Parts: sequence; structure tokens; C-alpha cells
Amino acid sequence: SILKKHYKELTEKTIKNLKFSYSPYSEFKVSSSVLSDSGKIFTGVNIENSSYSLTLCAETSAIANAISKGVKKINAVAIFTDSEEFVFPCGACRQRISEFSDNADIILINSKRKIKILKLKSLLPNSFKLNL
Ligand code: THU
Repeated sequence: SILKKHYKELTEKTIKNLKFSYSPYSEFKVSSSVLSDSGKIFTGVNIENSSYSLTLCAETSAIANAISKGVKKINAVAIFTDSEEFVFPCGACRQRISEFSDNADIILINSKRKIKILKLKSLLPNSFKLNL
């Protein structure tokens, strides 16, 4: 994508924000950032709740942050955790990303700062869309 030059900043911001994760129940911190089609970055973290099922994924809070500021198209979503295993977005978050992009880059960052870049379509082929 034409926005690849933003990926370093996107990655750095995502790593830096992990400390804001609110995850006292799972103790599994997740940080995510959205890169808009105009090159702006919107961050998010997972936000847990004592009523466990109310938990918000980091990707969901990053998307909410972006859309709330007027973003219409998402070009990339970065995801960082403290795990050496790459952590992939859950199924619900894949569907939420697909609402705002045909085929966003999904940038996974592990605890060693290694990076894996995938396309949304490889994670969610034949996604559900309404043709209104
Ligand atoms: N989590 C995310 O933030 N994103 C995902 O894609 C999967 C799971 C969070 C939710 C919960 O706070 C913690 O990880 C453990 O499930």
C-alpha cells in the first residue's frame, strides 16, 4: 500500500500504548492501532469488565476511536501483545475491520518486535456485506 511509510510509526505507537490496557481479569494486555486512508493513527486497548462478557477487544476500541473521529476507510490495523506467539484478531474484530476496508493490512507484532503482515481477506474470506 501507498501508506507503508506510516507502518513504523503505527508499530511504535501500538507498542507504546500497551501500558494502557485495562485487563485485570485475564492479565492479557492487547494494544491495537488503526491507520486511516489519510494516514492518521487511532489507538485502542482491550478494556475488560468484572462482567466478563462486556470486555472490548483492543481492535474494537481502536476502530471505535477512528470512526468516532470521522474515519471512513481503514488501511491497516496493528496488533501488539507481550506474547512471543503472534496474536491474531478474533473473528468478531475481523468482521468489524471488514466493515471499513475491503482488504486492510493486518500487522501483527510479537513481544520480540518481529512483524508479520497479512491481508484481511486471508483471515476473513467471503466476508458478510449487505448490498444496499
Ligand atoms: N483480546 C483482544 O483485545 N483482541 C483479540 O483479538 C482477542 C482478545 C482481549 C480480550 C481480553 O481482554 C483478553 O484479550 C483475553 O481474551
